[in-house]
Amino acid sequence: MANPTTLIIGANSEIAKALALQTVHDNNKALIVITRDPSFYQQPSFTDSKVITLADYQEHSIIEAIDTIKAGAETLITNVFICHGLLHNQRVMPEKRLQAFNVDSFNEVINANTITPMLWLKNLVPYLSGKQACKIIIFSARVGSISDNKIGGWYSYRASKAATNMLLKSAAIELARSAKNIKLISFHPGTTDSPLSKPFQKNVPEGKLFTREFVASQLFKIVEESQLDGQVSFLDWQGKEIPW
Ligand SMILES: NC(=O)c1ccc[n+]([C@@H]2O[C@H](COP(=O)([O-])OP(=O)(O)OC[C@H]3O[C@@H](n4cnc5c(N)ncnc54)[C@H](OP(=O)(O)O)[C@@H]3O)[C@@H](O)[C@H]2O)c1
Repeated sequence: MANPTTLIIGANSEIAKALALQTVHDNNKALIVITRDPSFYQQPSFTDSKVITLADYQEHSIIEAIDTIKAGAETLITNVFICHGLLHNQRVMPEKRLQAFNVDSFNEVINANTITPMLWLKNLVPYLSGKQACKIIIFSARVGSISDNKIGGWYSYRASKAATNMLLKSAAIELARSAKNIKLISFHPGTTDSPLSKPFQKNVPEGKLFTREFVASQLFKIVEESQLDGQVSFLDWQGKEIPW
């Protein structure tokens, strides 16, 4: 019988790193990580983990990474965390005003936050569908909630997360018919200390800037308690439903 294995994709994310450490130290599960930058995974904690490095997130690179998993020892993947997220980089800053909307930035954000997670989902589902329960967690954000948008701004990031949510809704309907062993969770971690949130941390109320370790342990509890109900759940770090 193969070992229950956790797969973490976009594993160089700060939250992903805490998920990875807790997987090997606390959860006693085998671990596979996929990232463009594997340096964090050179430490002894991950000696027994499989580290897959890819150059980019083009679909052919994604297929190649999944083929590497398939070619290895028999693996029973029970949890998948898809952690990609782009809010800012040298070329992209979240828009404060409509006039800051820019085609290239929008394409880059949509590509990282929406297209890349969907390509993983598309190519993983045929491999993961079967008898064994498998939970797939896609990192979203509360700002992707259309009904919760009270202050505007952040056009591209909001839209990319809302689009991801819609795609996950459609996928859940299809999987409820064709892959009943798969549960989808669209997850909002709360504001977490990471490179992504760094420039926006100064207005975060006291006690509301979470550590990556706190968010990871919350998420593991949520995943453990989630049921194979044929739905996608849009949940925050407390396990509370977020309105779509
Ligand atoms: N931190 C927060 O306050 C916060 C709040 C709400 C939602 N979130 C969401 O939580 C998730 C994890 O966030 P984090 O704070 O841990 O992020 P982070 O530390 O900044 O890590 C960013 C992640 O995104 C990937 N990435 C960056 N640029 C990319 C691109 N152009 N194409 C594809 N992937 C790209 C990286 O992949 P590699 O591993 O290959 O480098 C890495 O996995 C994201 O979806 C984020 O939107 C975070």
